[in-house]
Amino acid sequence: MSTLRLPGLVDAHVHLREPGYEYKEDFTTGTMAALAGGVTTVLDMPNTNPPTSTPERLADKARRAAAHAVCDVGLFVGATTTEGDAYLPAADQACGLKIYVSDTFGSLRIDTLEMMHRLFRSWAEQAAQVGYRMAGAAHGLGPVAVHAEELMAPVCLALSHIYAVPLHIVHVSRRSEIELIRAAKMRGIPVTCEVTPHHLFLSTEDLPRLGARGDMRPRLATPDDVAALWENLDVVDIFATDHAPHTLAEKGIDVSEPPASPPPGVPGLETMLPLLLTAAHEGRLTLDDIVTRCADNPRRIYGLPAQPETWIEVDVDAAYELRNEGLQTKVGWTPFAGQRVYGRVERVILRGETVYAHGTVLATPGSGKVLFQRVGD
Ligand code: DOR
Ligand code: ZN
Repeated sequence: MSTLRLPGLVDAHVHLREPGYEYKEDFTTGTMAALAGGVTTVLDMPNTNPPTSTPERLADKARRAAAHAVCDVGLFVGATTTEGDAYLPAADQACGLKIYVSDTFGSLRIDTLEMMHRLFRSWAEQAAQVGYRMAGAAHGLGPVAVHAEELMAPVCLALSHIYAVPLHIVHVSRRSEIELIRAAKMRGIPVTCEVTPHHLFLSTEDLPRLGARGDMRPRLATPDDVAALWENLDVVDIFATDHAPHTLAEKGIDVSEPPASPPPGVPGLETMLPLLLTAAHEGRLTLDDIVTRCADNPRRIYGLPAQPETWIEVDVDAAYELRNEGLQTKVGWTPFAGQRVYGRVERVILRGETVYAHGTVLATPGSGKVLFQRVGD
């Protein structure tokens, strides 16, 4: 057995579902899944019900997370067609702004160029007042993160360039997109991007086997697209899960009347590190590649505060099969069930406390911190 000490990981893209969809996940179960995956900070997406689109809703979500989370949590605000940039007065208390311009789960979808102009312009104007955290400051705004597939990617790149707003493109999955981002970076556009484990380790060839368990947005891509992500790994700033739990019944699995349109999305918090460590075991990645993309880069891009006395202990030689049984996520399944992996999280230490050991979460709900909240709020 060889135990390695790594920094607490950051998962910069999770859907913890609270409020509105607590039957899928909540701040306690979602952050328990994080700790089991070696993740000590998560950044939570705004497509809840109601969506996190106003200062009041952000404050409500922050209160829930502060009461229930067992790891640290940053919260995205989201743009809506009806409320536009109503989140703006609280923008510096969010980890960033999320804009959905492609098909997704929930009601957050922006579909006019006019609104896109307004959202980028007002983020830039707000940043002119308070700055960006990315520059190393303790306060200020985070980046604009976009779900922008295919032709929507260049639209967002152009707006980022025009308004000088740092852009983060989430879950990049296609050759055309990663090659475009490489070109944009070479041109000096302030863009970063992330890739999920499911787009790195699964493709359309897995769909017959996975069925609805392989349905997410962006959809699984061709083996050539997957190869392109690996070929362009130097362009990939972050590995993040897009942990998007839905119940198997909602997915239409093992139910007598499958739903007409099952929700897209798969859980990922507990399987990311073993999958990446397996790729390292096979020589496709280095440990440094993992730490850079799961800790250093998300910390820099989102301006996250350091977590003192925080680390994870990983047995990199442990060989085992990923299973649905024993998962912390409320939905209790993974599209990677049955896959053999190397690398098991043994212990997680957060601010000097052992919060996870050998399959058991030891932290009490409420011990996680909510990032970027103003003192006294
Ligand atoms: O597969 C997905 N699920 N993609 C998204 O963009 C949203 C997510 C969810 O919230 O379920
Ligand atoms: Zn997502």
